[in-house]
Amino acid sequence: RVIMDEFKIEDNISYKNLFKPYGYINGEWIDLPKGKSFNIYNPSTNKIIATMPEMGIDETKYAIESAKIAFDKWKKKTAKERCFLLRKWYDLVLENIDDLSVIMTLENGKPLKESKAEIIYASSFIDWFSEEGKRTYGRSIPATQIDKRIITIKQPVGVSALITPWNFPAAMITRKVAPALAAGCSVIIKPAEQTPLSASALVYLAQKAGIPKGVINLLVANNPIPIGKELCENESVRKISFTGSTEVGKILIKDSANSVKKVSMELGGNAPLIVFNDADVDIAVKETLASKYRNSGQTCVCANRIFVQDGIYKKYSEALAKKVADFKVGDGFEHTSDIGPLIDNSGLKKVERHLDDAIAKGAKVLTGGKQPSLGGLYYEPTVLTEVAKNMVLFKEETFGPLAPLFKFKDVDEVINMANNTNYGLAGYIFTKDLNTAWKVSEELQFGMVGINSGILSTEVAPFGGVKESGIGREGAVEGMDEYMEIKYLCFGNIM
Ligand code: SIN
Repeated sequence: RVIMDEFKIEDNISYKNLFKPYGYINGEWIDLPKGKSFNIYNPSTNKIIATMPEMGIDETKYAIESAKIAFDKWKKKTAKERCFLLRKWYDLVLENIDDLSVIMTLENGKPLKESKAEIIYASSFIDWFSEEGKRTYGRSIPATQIDKRIITIKQPVGVSALITPWNFPAAMITRKVAPALAAGCSVIIKPAEQTPLSASALVYLAQKAGIPKGVINLLVANNPIPIGKELCENESVRKISFTGSTEVGKILIKDSANSVKKVSMELGGNAPLIVFNDADVDIAVKETLASKYRNSGQTCVCANRIFVQDGIYKKYSEALAKKVADFKVGDGFEHTSDIGPLIDNSGLKKVERHLDDAIAKGAKVLTGGKQPSLGGLYYEPTVLTEVAKNMVLFKEETFGPLAPLFKFKDVDEVINMANNTNYGLAGYIFTKDLNTAWKVSEELQFGMVGINSGILSTEVAPFGGVKESGIGREGAVEGMDEYMEIKYLCFGNIM
């Protein structure tokens, strides 16, 4: 079932140990009969790298049943025991960083250096929650009657379904699985159809670490709808955590309503990045590059609309375009590549649609603006000037390497423009003025604000959005609470 012929560095590495083109339920790797399978493609070459079983409702029900049985035992382990196993998983992930990175670049296309950075980022969630799991403290509350005593305890929410995207094939899994397991929940993972091999490699390492059967289950499929529906509607599943589009998030929330599940949604963004006249241009450019072009512009927190004040517009746009023009586009396995391919044809078409619409409405290309000679799913990193609010790229998340530079005059104007969106995930501001930094941070209707920083993501801070960008937070203590219920205990007649 493994088709790896075209893979260049095959002979030098041992990634095949981690190459598991299967689902995983109740501690067993599951394949299905021929004909019930789907292909995984390398977006750099469009070649098939593996086929995997097309799982559906039957496998989903089996996974839920297994997770339910496992939950009863897992929740009774001490936090220390659970966290010890998480720690072993963390060690194994780092020991296998090279192989995990290769698998990720193979199925996602991102440059190998970005895949490595992602594995470190992914492992940080296991590390952090393996510690935090020991500190899920309740509270002692002073009672209002003399004979009463009040405390709260935290308990795991139960079987948790985790639905993850292709843009961070490892980190979005560990950001959910690590707190869920540390809290005492069992999980069912449904990774994106484009990138299930990073997921199965991580699950394999969790199995090696000794995580008991049924505690982690993995469902894979090209058609996520039957699986998603069953996970949302089945009463035994008590938690849905999803990272992906707002459109799909809304469906999952609706489908979970009948069984009133706890939900966490990390959905789309339309991040403003604001550069004020007093900003340090070098810092603003460096951080814009990090925010905008990470993963070829395919992150929910990538700057989508860049607002630059009129006094600095020329200097900033020229400096940015110069750096962007230096980026090397190419196969993720080439050491020189900074920008890999887009994930699929619909991703490419969206970038082209945004660019065509902007050009038709008067935008100018400062650099990029087309596919490079490599063709395929590659797109040149692009900077556009003379963009305006009536362009599609103002409203929609591009999810590609396209940086539109809007011009603004004053603070009130830019706050209005930045907040003029249904989304509210991340925003960024660049200024040396503390007053501007505070005022604008408070006014921005976004869940996270970077001040003179284009990268916000870390395991120690709560990641998440407001408005149609989501519900709940991931990472930090808040991320652990997403997998726990608070129980209030009232002791009476204490004399
Ligand atoms: C995302 O794009 O969904 C997550 C990005 C991050 O964790 O930095």
